Amino acid sequence: MKLTKFKSLKFQSYKPGKYEIPNSKKIKKIIKLSANESALGASPKVKTILRKNINTSKYPDYTSKLLRKQISIKFQCDSDKVICGSGSDEIIQMLCQLFLSKGDQVIVPEYSFLMYRIYSSISGAKVIFAKEKNYKISVNNIIKKVNKKTKIVFLANPNNPTGTYLYKNELINLRNKLRKDILLVIDDAYFEYMKDNKYSSGLDTFKNFKNVFILRTFSKIHGLAALRIGWGFGDKKIINALNLIKPPFNVNKIAQLCAIEALKDEKFINKSIQHNLYWCRKIKNKLEEFNIYTNKISANFLLLNFNQCKFSASVIEKKLEKNGIILREMKTYGIYNHLRLTIGNSVENKMFLKSVDKIFKNV
Ligand SMILES: Cc1ncc(COP(=O)(O)O)c(C=O)c1O
Repeated sequence: MKLTKFKSLKFQSYKPGKYEIPNSKKIKKIIKLSANESALGASPKVKTILRKNINTSKYPDYTSKLLRKQISIKFQCDSDKVICGSGSDEIIQMLCQLFLSKGDQVIVPEYSFLMYRIYSSISGAKVIFAKEKNYKISVNNIIKKVNKKTKIVFLANPNNPTGTYLYKNELINLRNKLRKDILLVIDDAYFEYMKDNKYSSGLDTFKNFKNVFILRTFSKIHGLAALRIGWGFGDKKIINALNLIKPPFNVNKIAQLCAIEALKDEKFINKSIQHNLYWCRKIKNKLEEFNIYTNKISANFLLLNFNQCKFSASVIEKKLEKNGIILREMKTYGIYNHLRLTIGNSVENKMFLKSVDKIFKNV
């Protein structure tokens, strides 16, 4: 029997941040600082929901109506322009399904979240990389890559894994220079952490634009990564079409309930922001003593550059793993001699700093 032909897919699959260390039986505690997850877990309000006896026998609301309502109140936007997904990841997938066919082109920054290129490739589009400047997205280099086949430009602001970001005026400049029919997708995954007043989130900057689509997630500051929930905001015509594509019960009931509570808990969100800022500053300063330099503080992670350090990134990666601490290697992103560090809770951060100290002082 010869099976019917299926698609020949030629791209690297997504490799998530490492979560285990081989031969680590002797290590008491693994500290995972490799996937930009929340340092402080989830809000106590979310934990109250999780303790409730929730009836799981009925399908969830397939429109996530109450959550969309809460989003519309909090961010002052029309709930009919919001769609929820099983992670913002699923929204990226649906956008690619909706907009892309064989022969189309998508532009992504040279170093960017890997799912943009993966879903674009699955949809048959060609992925074009726009060179960055000192690990920062270059508006000019994106514009240079535009041609008549270009359908979407994806970018995260701040960007993962570089941690750099475009100012509000640079984002507006990009939209102005980009042909009007090209969809600009701005991924606001880490916007809550941003403290620079030259920065403005995609949603705040482009709320009324028909040709800009915004991605948001509950996996980062809200600490709901395991529940898989995110959302997208865009023109009603796009949202209506995405609703035709969307699997009916894509967001589970517990995720919807927890996300509503997470949005309401301003106190917890502020605590997370303060924690992040405090530890980013402390860790950045400490690492500079060892000639390890990082990006300017932005999101809940730092990209560590080892080019001036006496140890290479891979040496430090291995030494930290011996102490049970996992950072994200950057070779899969095409960035060499760097590691990405997610800010952990206070105990984890202290352990990280202690281990770094030990590595340098033992030589
Ligand atoms: C820029 C960016 N967008 C989206 C995601 C994925 O978010 P979600 O968990 O909502 O799928 C990540 C996760 O690392 C990310 O860094």
